[in-house]
Amino acid sequence: MKTNNFFIVSTLSVLFLISCNKKKYTEVVEVPLPTAQEKITIGMPEDVNAEPGSFLMDKLIYPYDALAPTVSPFTLETHYSKHYLTYTNNFNKAVIGTGLENLSIEEVISQLDVNNTELRNNAGGYYNHSIYWKSMAPDAGGVPTDTIASVINRDFGSYENFKVAFSAEATKQFGSAWVWLVVQKGGKLQITSTQNQDNPLMRNSLVKGTPIIGLDLWEHAYYLGYQYRRKNYIESFYNVLNWKKINEAYESAIRRKY
Ligand code: FE2
Repeated sequence: MKTNNFFIVSTLSVLFLISCNKKKYTEVVEVPLPTAQEKITIGMPEDVNAEPGSFLMDKLIYPYDALAPTVSPFTLETHYSKHYLTYTNNFNKAVIGTGLENLSIEEVISQLDVNNTELRNNAGGYYNHSIYWKSMAPDAGGVPTDTIASVINRDFGSYENFKVAFSAEATKQFGSAWVWLVVQKGGKLQITSTQNQDNPLMRNSLVKGTPIIGLDLWEHAYYLGYQYRRKNYIESFYNVLNWKKINEAYESAIRRKY
């Protein structure tokens, strides 16, 4: 009987202690709001400068919050001021001593030794992002205009067909990649893709051409805003396409010698 009483008292004590602990963890705790010093601040693209080198960073023609919601302000700031800055600095170091320092970036990309991984990755990272920044603008999107509009209709049948083909190419990518609209011989448009920081100007490219639209499909380009929903990022890209610049890039590309 004594043993039973002891068991009952012990059990009630344990239940009481659990009850007390539960009460402790269900209390409402007031969380202080962040102070002014703790708020996230978004900088300015013009304040970002690469280390001295042969190649300068492309200046963004819009602030970090200009492409929202397609590209969130924090994504664009991180992308430009951290990733692109790092590619630029590393490219300027990697190109030293290669004999390519004084060429145009397009000549560097098309002539570099693809076995030089450091140069290939960073030259590609530098060039690819410059195409990406120019592909987009605030208050843009909609249907293409000028020459590029008629060329898209000629080569894809319609702008809608172009979007379907471009999205299909983007959606099938796995891992870090880029999707391109390139200009080939005779001014023909072609959609293609490359892995890592390769691009269609490189010697090893299976589909060659001059890029006039570049979509960055690395996670750093979209993850803060979209997480795993890469398809939503792809579909939103059309809302910021800078057709004026893309048309200029097309007309410049067809004047180049291939
Ligand atoms: Fe990127």
